[in-house]
Amino acid sequence: MNPDNFGSQLPTLRGPDLSLRWLTAADLPALMTIFANPEVVRYMATEPLDTREAAERYLLSIHEGFQSGGLYQWGIERDGAVVGTCTLAGIDRDNRTAEIGFALGREHWGRGLILRALPLVIEFAFNTLQLHRIGADADPRNSASIRVLEKLGFQREGLLRECYFHMGEIQDAALFGLLQPDWRASAYCPPAD
Ligand SMILES: CC(C)(COP(=O)(O)OP(=O)(O)OC[C@H]1O[C@@H](n2cnc3c(N)ncnc32)[C@H](O)[C@@H]1OP(=O)(O)O)[C@@H](O)C(=O)NCCC(=O)NCCS
Repeated sequence: MNPDNFGSQLPTLRGPDLSLRWLTAADLPALMTIFANPEVVRYMATEPLDTREAAERYLLSIHEGFQSGGLYQWGIERDGAVVGTCTLAGIDRDNRTAEIGFALGREHWGRGLILRALPLVIEFAFNTLQLHRIGADADPRNSASIRVLEKLGFQREGLLRECYFHMGEIQDAALFGLLQPDWRASAYCPPAD
């Protein structure tokens, strides 16, 4: 039973031209299109989803994360197709924190989509889950991701040296944090009603 009493699935979060919604088995082909591409997962904590079985295991972990309440992952739907995902992982209700993650299918990069999707997740984290802090980490070479985080108002807080072994290489992680007051001051935070 989900600890936030969301019933059987995550609430849909709606933006002007996209929505964040619950992922189902019907989305397995879309998940494979997004995450089979090594360019997309190069700096992510996931291996390329290059078989249907790998995609099914990935979807199962999303559904288990929802049940336990530790991981909420939405599909980004635009024009009827899932083009990426946004995630709150490591949701810690005692400390009121979580880690944010995001990815777009390669053909959807460069259009500002993620900067329209992530504010919906951040608002959900601070308003619905009543979190106080959202963390993120990014490989220091992942310039697009770092630019996205900084535009949203995340502050760079440090560097973990050589903390991941992923896709055959050792990777560093630049650490970022967004506190609720940082978000309220961000240009991407919607005005209060
Ligand atoms: C991170 C990701 C979602 C960004 O999406 P995107 O659609 O390319 O982002 P945008 O087009 O909105 O660009 C965001 C900003 O980054 C900049 N940017 C994009 N690619 C860049 C690059 N290679 N180098 C430097 N800056 C870059 C853009 O110019 C823009 O800044 P600006 O508005 O000031 O010009 C996308 O690259 C992705 O899915 N990457 C793979 C998954 C991943 O690494 N996720 C993050 C794990 S921490």
